[in-house]
Amino acid sequence: MKDTIDRLRIDGADRIKAAANEADIESLRTALLGRKGEVTSLLRGLKDVPDAERPKMGAELNRLKGELGALLDSRLEDLADKAETQGPELDLTLPGTPPTGAGTNHPLLTVLESVCDIFYGMGFSRGIGPEVELDHYNFTALNFPDDHPARDIQDTFYIDPKVCLRTQTSPVQVRTMEVTEPPLAMIFPGRVYRNENADASHSSEFYQIEGLVVDEAISLADLKETIDIFVRNFFGAQEPTRFRPHYFPFTEPSVEVDMQCVACRGKGCGICGQTGWLEIMGAGMVHPNVFKAAGYPEDKYTGFAFGMGIDRIAMLKYGVGDIRLLYENDLRFLNQFRGVL
Ligand code: DAH
Repeated sequence: MKDTIDRLRIDGADRIKAAANEADIESLRTALLGRKGEVTSLLRGLKDVPDAERPKMGAELNRLKGELGALLDSRLEDLADKAETQGPELDLTLPGTPPTGAGTNHPLLTVLESVCDIFYGMGFSRGIGPEVELDHYNFTALNFPDDHPARDIQDTFYIDPKVCLRTQTSPVQVRTMEVTEPPLAMIFPGRVYRNENADASHSSEFYQIEGLVVDEAISLADLKETIDIFVRNFFGAQEPTRFRPHYFPFTEPSVEVDMQCVACRGKGCGICGQTGWLEIMGAGMVHPNVFKAAGYPEDKYTGFAFGMGIDRIAMLKYGVGDIRLLYENDLRFLNQFRGVL
């Protein structure tokens, strides 16, 4: 019997060591120490052991029972520790977390594309220009005097004295005219940058759409009609527009375009500052100096240009009160535009 006990001591310990999980441990506990287990049946066999040896064998067997019980307990603890540090077992066959919905375009992009669509309908095509721009295209070629305040470091992010982040999409006019013969009717959407402190109506980056039409007999009346068609198509109603005289270095004459306030229909409210009108863009007839900078022959062509802020148009259309909401990518805000636009 002593040999059997010794063998079981070694063999039992090996089997416990090999147990891979809690269920293995429990079935080993039954196989070794359960009512019909191996140790238990040895204990039952004690009655056949000669009297002289029985107390010693009994004590051996009890010791073995205690040892195997302790080994089972500590192996169980080891397995539990390991499971904790490894985390739950990964079941790759389980279905994943379903996505909460398909992604959609950002409202700014949707507005930008729908503005472009309206101009495509009038025969415009689309062009682009660089966001990192030469001071020459952003200012000089657009007839900005050397001491114009817009060149000031306060407004412009300069990369070096000759290179800046464009502050407007107007430089794309000059780049395009340098390589395109009239007649041309184009729009240039894109991101622009200004060194501004952010508040509800200012952001250091925002979007503009520039428009340019050049041919031999383009007039201010063509500009007015083009803008009216845009406003009617984009804002849906017969909103009146008006031109106010203004100054831009690159147009002469220059105007600011207002449309009747979408909120109060001209009566005067908080949104339009009680004026009944909302400013929507700058525009004018292309200045001869700009044609000259682009290399066009003198006195041959006339043209109109306009530039509008997409952010402002989007905010007016959807009643967004703070431009920063358009750049924070807060899904609670963005999800409101799902399927709306
Ligand atoms: N570039 C002007 C701005 O950022 C907007 C503008 C005004 C563009 C008049 C034009 C224009 O093309 O003719 O304030």
